[in-house]
Amino acid sequence: MKNSIHKNSFKLIILVSGRGSNMSSIIKNSMLLNWPIEILAVIADRDCNAINLAKKLSVPTVILDYKRFRNSKRFNIELFSVVASFNPDLVALAGFMRILNQEQLSCSKHIFLNIHPSILPKYKGLNTHKRVLTGNETFHGATVHSVTGDLDDGPIICQGVVPVLPEDNEALLAARVLDMELKIYPSAIAAILSKKIVFKSGVWVKSEKAIDLPAFYFSKIVFHPYFSKHEKEKIVEKLVF
Ligand code: GRF
Repeated sequence: MKNSIHKNSFKLIILVSGRGSNMSSIIKNSMLLNWPIEILAVIADRDCNAINLAKKLSVPTVILDYKRFRNSKRFNIELFSVVASFNPDLVALAGFMRILNQEQLSCSKHIFLNIHPSILPKYKGLNTHKRVLTGNETFHGATVHSVTGDLDDGPIICQGVVPVLPEDNEALLAARVLDMELKIYPSAIAAILSKKIVFKSGVWVKSEKAIDLPAFYFSKIVFHPYFSKHEKEKIVEKLVF
């Protein structure tokens, strides 16, 4: 399957470290829906499943093995230099396990996005599903946000909300959240490339100048079909954006 490259296509880099399901969803959505998007490269900090999947999808890959670098600063300098050499419009972190250096980020002219498996600002960091279950939460989900130098922080683009059910264990809940991630991440990227949302004064705002994209729907909050109208309204009151 070849990615369709339009003359004025939007250029994307994807950073990965592991399984690669978000990366695949972004690539497959853009290919199947024929969005004007060119995936310049998938860059990994280690050899991983995502690299194999990217190769199968005919996307160029780069591995910058973090173990070869003396420290995180050196790794970041090399990473930002490789990213800059591609000159992308957007860089999407999809399960990328390194924290980006604040200094490098503020010097970079590129926008970096991340997806995190929780309804931020709650449950930053690792093991979110386990912590949500221990915290007796009734809902959970995922957030797409732009990246700052702080862990799982930055202006929120959209959130996908799923229920926590009585019979849930970590695996069941993780699968439900991942299913939501695979919908909202491509949709957030499409919203940026179609200019449906723009980054202004430190926040993502709706824009009137959007271009049409085939089969594309963007909403700041996406709910799992489980929720009733009343439950959705109650949850919206609790969200911070
Ligand atoms: C996802 O849950 C994502 O939210 C988190 O890391 C996981 C990556 O999974 N940042 P995959 O590599 O996309 O399958």
